[in-house]
Amino acid sequence: MIGVFDSGIGGLTVVKEIRNMLPEYDVVYFGDTARVPYGNKSPELIKKYALEDARFLLDKGAKLIVIACNSASAVAREYLREQLDVPVLGVIGPAVHAAKAATINGRIGVIGTRATVNSGIYQLVLKNLEQTVPQSTGSSDRSVPAFMRKGKRIQTSTPVMSIVAQAAPLLVPLVEEGYIHKPETKQLVRRYLQPLKQQQIDTLILGCTHYPILKEVIRAKAPKIKLIDPAQTLAAELELFIKDRRELDRSLSKRHELRLYVSDLTLQVNEIANLWLGKHVNVEEVQW
Ligand code: DGL
Repeated sequence: MIGVFDSGIGGLTVVKEIRNMLPEYDVVYFGDTARVPYGNKSPELIKKYALEDARFLLDKGAKLIVIACNSASAVAREYLREQLDVPVLGVIGPAVHAAKAATINGRIGVIGTRATVNSGIYQLVLKNLEQTVPQSTGSSDRSVPAFMRKGKRIQTSTPVMSIVAQAAPLLVPLVEEGYIHKPETKQLVRRYLQPLKQQQIDTLILGCTHYPILKEVIRAKAPKIKLIDPAQTLAAELELFIKDRRELDRSLSKRHELRLYVSDLTLQVNEIANLWLGKHVNVEEVQW
């Protein structure tokens, strides 16, 4: 099974994209709804929670861990890689690669939780990428993530790139309350985008599980800015990661199954799960 975890139900945006990309692969999801949000917690606590979440998924038979949560991907991915002996994929790397490929003027914006923004991870990944991508990178170069190797060659004469990050924490509860097209949400989106627009970004990474739900609202406020959806870029990367590794692929069960677990099952969790996945799903509560 492919194991996916998030601080809550936001990671279902990632599950949806994985199901679109790899419909036959079984997915087991854990949403830590009892301890959400992670985005305002310390890196130490997020690491501890992330390890517990991943271990839960491994107990359920996961052979690969996907961190759907941007905050946990930002601060805990390396830690999980050290602690676990299965592959661990996060949402940051694929999103930065996609943004790097999409930008024309080299100015990339990110919105995310405080934990994500304070981690400085997007800037770090971009810097590492610029240092490690060789000038002559071709379609078979393995230092380049799998989904970037598909098709065209890496751009070599790119402008100097920079990433500016903006914390947008209030959008999470608004999305969970279903306030997608409300004036309050539009006003906040405009406010959060303002400093990024002043920096003349031409590409924006929606660096939080909940923000893809607001894509239309964000697009209306920033029609000329290209939006990068980490749920989609992660799913594309995951597909090629699996297809590149035959043994791993063989170990993943393929019965179209989706198992959803949360640490606190409320009515709202059920409603959001059904709404975001676009069908009736069964969510189970687990006791730690
Ligand atoms: N899932 C979190 C993220 O993507 C958002 C909610 C939270 O703060 O836990 O960063």
